[in-house]
Amino acid sequence: YSLKSYNTFNIDHSCAELINVKSKAELISTCLELYRSEQRFLVLGGGSNVVLTDDYLGTVVHVETKGIEFAEDDEYHYLGVAAGENWHDLVETTLSMSISGLENLALIPGTVGAAPIQNIGAYGVELMQVCDWVEYLDLRNGELKRLAANECKFSYRDSIFKGELLSCAVITSVGLKLRKRWEPVISYGPLRAFEKEAVTAKQVFDCICNMRNTKLPNPAVLGNAGSFFKNPIVSRAVFDSLVENHPGIVGFTVDEDSVKLAAGWLIDKAGLKGLKVGDAAVHEQQALVLVNLGYATGEDVTHLAKKVIGAITDLYGIDLEAEPRIIGANGEKELEDD
Ligand code: FAD
Ligand code: EPU
Repeated sequence: YSLKSYNTFNIDHSCAELINVKSKAELISTCLELYRSEQRFLVLGGGSNVVLTDDYLGTVVHVETKGIEFAEDDEYHYLGVAAGENWHDLVETTLSMSISGLENLALIPGTVGAAPIQNIGAYGVELMQVCDWVEYLDLRNGELKRLAANECKFSYRDSIFKGELLSCAVITSVGLKLRKRWEPVISYGPLRAFEKEAVTAKQVFDCICNMRNTKLPNPAVLGNAGSFFKNPIVSRAVFDSLVENHPGIVGFTVDEDSVKLAAGWLIDKAGLKGLKVGDAAVHEQQALVLVNLGYATGEDVTHLAKKVIGAITDLYGIDLEAEPRIIGANGEKELEDD
């Protein structure tokens, strides 16, 4: 089965078996059966955060479960959303019902079920700020469990699902909790032009859609997985010495002692925009994004990524870390092992 239309990098690799699951019961029984019979399998949502470097020798379980439950009290709207729902469609649905709070996370591709895994974030908001709980199937004992948001170990592009629950949790649904007294988050760049008292969620949504459409390549036109590297977090002392040697370097204060560097700036100023390996290239408009110019293989992408990492280490002494998950013939692997 070709996976070309199942990954936003548009890389043409296949899998041995493909199962499209439409109900939660089917998702649970399919994954449990595969796990218990020790078969190789990969749960896939929108395929917007993966790089396929080989034909996958196992079964891909494609999550297509649907359904949104709504509840409310005086203070909050509560949503229980099936893992297979499309994230951006959910953002639009809530806004059309006058439920605000997800507008900053507009146009992030992929499924709701994958959103907690790397704690998706954009334009000043991260999933952890709106997440109530995450329900998952624990493959080790077949139990359905629910973690409260504060048990998910959320941090920048990270959660318990990339740590101790890696490979043993299948997310089945996600609970969101959206405050009825809406507080706009308009701290990022062009959003600052809005007035806190007057702005509407729809205006924030439109502004974010515009920004994203001008900066980020549309995967339907140019394959990609969004930012290819995480923005590295360094100590204030390291940042101060970087500023001396590289005036203009972009950093955002995380807390008193640490600063998040804009990796896109580092790559851009290193002169790497347009750098190519095969048909993979550093995007001309946004250096943090690697793109497929047409016929890139996964290996083109990983080799390019390693070139970028090497150049950034040499120039700034900073080690970049890949954000997307690298999937080889036997499953997930490290970029370095490719
Ligand atoms: P997939 O790529 O299908 O899967 C990603 C990983 O999660 C895989 O390891 C998979 O096995 C696992 N997985 C998927 N679903 C489940 C499940 N139900 N249970 C267990 N494991 C599962 N991310 C941001 O945070 N902010 C952004 O602004 C952003 N912008 C992007 C822009 C573009 C153009 C693109 C292409 C990507 C962008 N991303 C961004 C990355 C991506 O949208 C997110 O990582 C998204 O959450 C991935 O969802 P998905 O369903 O496509 O996951
Ligand atoms: N920059 C450059 N040159 C470039 C790219 C960026 O100088 O080629 C500079 C920009 O001018 C800006 C800074 O770097 O000063 C940051 O750039 P931008 O605002 O575009 O955001 P980013 O740090 O590149 C992060 C997320 C995105 C998210 C945006 C908006 C990560 C790894 N990436 O990108 O998430 O949408 O902020 O909040 O944290 C993703 O994860 O896939 C993703 C797209």
